[in-house]
Amino acid sequence: MKAITQTLSEIVSQAFATAGYDSSLGAVTASDRLDLCQFQCNGAFSAAKLYHKAPFVVAEEVAQILREVRAFSKVEVAKPGFINLTLDDRYLLEQTAAIARDPHLGIPQTQNPAKIILDYGGPNIAKPLHIGHLRSAIIGESLKRILRAAGHTVIGDIHLGDWGLQIGLVITELQERYPHWRCFSPDFDPDTESVQPLEAAELNEVYPLASKKSKTDPDYAQKAHQATYELQNGRPGYLALWREILRASVADMKSNYEKLGVTFDLWYGESDADRYVPQLMEILSEKNLLIESDGALVVDVAEPQDKAPMPPVIVRKSDHSSIYATTDLATIIQREKDFHPDKIWYVVDNRQELHFTQVFRCAKKAGLIPPETEFAFLGFGTMNGADGKPYKTRDGGIMKLEDMIATVTKGAQEKLEASSFVNESDYDEMARRVGVAAIKFGDLINQRAKDYIFDLNKFFSFEGKTGTYLLYTVTRINSILKKAGAPREQTAPISHVYTDSERDLLLKLAMGGDVFQKALEEKAPNYLCEHAYQLAIAFSKFYHDNRIIDEPDPEKKQNWLSLIALVRQVLCQLLDLLGIEPVEHM
Ligand code: ARG
Repeated sequence: MKAITQTLSEIVSQAFATAGYDSSLGAVTASDRLDLCQFQCNGAFSAAKLYHKAPFVVAEEVAQILREVRAFSKVEVAKPGFINLTLDDRYLLEQTAAIARDPHLGIPQTQNPAKIILDYGGPNIAKPLHIGHLRSAIIGESLKRILRAAGHTVIGDIHLGDWGLQIGLVITELQERYPHWRCFSPDFDPDTESVQPLEAAELNEVYPLASKKSKTDPDYAQKAHQATYELQNGRPGYLALWREILRASVADMKSNYEKLGVTFDLWYGESDADRYVPQLMEILSEKNLLIESDGALVVDVAEPQDKAPMPPVIVRKSDHSSIYATTDLATIIQREKDFHPDKIWYVVDNRQELHFTQVFRCAKKAGLIPPETEFAFLGFGTMNGADGKPYKTRDGGIMKLEDMIATVTKGAQEKLEASSFVNESDYDEMARRVGVAAIKFGDLINQRAKDYIFDLNKFFSFEGKTGTYLLYTVTRINSILKKAGAPREQTAPISHVYTDSERDLLLKLAMGGDVFQKALEEKAPNYLCEHAYQLAIAFSKFYHDNRIIDEPDPEKKQNWLSLIALVRQVLCQLLDLLGIEPVEHM
């Protein structure tokens, strides 16, 4: 179904046309003065200029017509020419009934379904997952759900960092520790020999150590570069070891992402793009785009309108190894070949914007994708600690995702301990959900590109814009419905509006489609967070003002139970779009 402002715009446009004005003037928006009206149209101002009339006169003419329309109970013209609109309660009820009937629960469906590759997560093999990857996963998962809910096809790709220097570092360190392992021998035979199984825990410890060593020991660093180069050039023992590193690391990642409620359709990595590197180099060379620079090959991507200097993108280093941009370009070839997507979007830290600008320009210049394919860099800000600096653990290290999940789960357990509802059996699962809701909502409520402060105490608060408050609101509705013996989903329609707080709640529900559209257009889940919060607040007010369970009038009671069942459905839908799972009770 259409968003309500769209439906109202059609009505008001018709009125403009009837009054002899251009119908495009009838755009309706939600009112920013709810004390005056619910919706407004400011088209009379443009009309005044076009038709050389006073805006008030035009507005009055249009309002005259609108006063005859049954959708509105009140149409007022405010000086100097605003048309203020208030819906008739019956019309408002029809709108909410339509939402309840709609299989998409009021989410407007796109007229142009697109195939979108969403590149998010982006963890690196062998390196512990860090906070930046957490943001990418949380935001990416939500965007995927939002796009799908609108009817787009989304292919979520984790794009593992599995082919870079970090692998060379890990190989080097393992070789120092276990020089006798057969995989280090140049005559290792992958057909008859196998590699020792590795543990993710060891890898998580090996990488930081190796990285530290390489910074102070040039020999060690050289070995790591050499190992990376030999791996990328197919040395059998290194390849076999790399496969084992990949296996152990991915298994560990999968379990962590699962706890976070984040999934991917593809678990491809930089290494999967490697076989497209020769083709990439061929295309770049054929199009005469390659320039030699200090032994490396680069592509110039500067454009005349650039205000800041735009460095060329390096596609092959002087030692002939591939780097980050090479794999990203090769991945574009792979994605085009496998999926022929309409759009490729990347959910990555803001600090990588330059890299992506270079990659996008190079890909377009080289024609790796058709000109109409859309690239987008969906950057996000940094998650900071209380000191305003990038979030670190107490000992100053990088917070591992695993530890982060453990921390929030423990925080949630402390919250739940106070609850008398929770059974032993579902305790752990509930604590996980509450914990994950707290960090996801705490992240998504912020505008994507902005930095924010990670503050678990705040995220766990039962008041304010928190995941905890929203889960709690759902559990309150659960218990009211249960006490009343009413169904979970709305079955009987709402036939009457009895109180103001009820009308406010209905209006919030009716606005859902508009909010969704804004979140979709701006690729910004924070609008949905805000709306979920507003809906929860409106519910609280309604519940506070009206005694539902004790209501003696059966019809009134039925109406109210229907209303809160719909609120519950919509809240759960919003949480789902954010990637948050509700809990039964708290
Ligand atoms: N692995 C990268 C990092 O840790 C992020 C990958 C983002 N996606 C991409 N296609 N480059 O910074």
